[in-house]
Amino acid sequence: MERAEVLRLGHRPERDERLTTHVCLTARAFGADAVHVDGNGSGPVETADEVTRRFGGDFDAGTVESPRSVMSGFDGNVVHLTMYGEPVQDVVDEVRDEPVLAVVGAGKVDGWVYGETDYNVGVTNQPHSEVAALAVFLHEYFDGDELDASFVGGEVEVVPSERGKKTRSKDSR
Ligand SMILES: C[S@@+](CC[C@H](N)C(=O)[O-])C[C@H]1O[C@@H](n2cnc3c(N)ncnc32)[C@H](O)[C@@H]1O
Repeated sequence: MERAEVLRLGHRPERDERLTTHVCLTARAFGADAVHVDGNGSGPVETADEVTRRFGGDFDAGTVESPRSVMSGFDGNVVHLTMYGEPVQDVVDEVRDEPVLAVVGAGKVDGWVYGETDYNVGVTNQPHSEVAALAVFLHEYFDGDELDASFVGGEVEVVPSERGKKTRSKDSR
């Protein structure tokens, strides 16, 4: 699979804690290698680290002081997800040629972001959620392969079941 990282812009600790946590967990579950949280997002980062410790995989979560330098220093396509962007289905084949940094906002996204990304991409051109946009974008970017990804290491894994909630310790395999 190609490499993908996620940048969460403008995290506001007083109101975005839950959504930023969901951005981090969605990034991990849908195959991204890392998430960068702009602002004081230590709570969501700690939750992502704890999930990785328990369920495995190689996922880096951290906070960043300067989202602009994360974007300018990224070696690949920087893709800002926005309802105003080009339809994901029109550009994803081109975007997939290189590693991707998927950028999602919280509140109002500053104007410079639209100008300093390689692509502005809409997952539909309707307003919805950064979590939904990120999940669909990563699913398109990985062409569905992330659904079969394995998460090596960790303590526990789910045993997919028709009914009920089954897990097993990874040590017991
Ligand atoms: C709740 S929206 C807030 C957007 C804000 N009102 C603005 O003007 O930038 C939060 C984030 O969800 C993502 N988002 C929402 N709808 C989207 C769509 N249709 N396509 C892609 N991303 C979307 C964007 O990353 C956006 O920054």
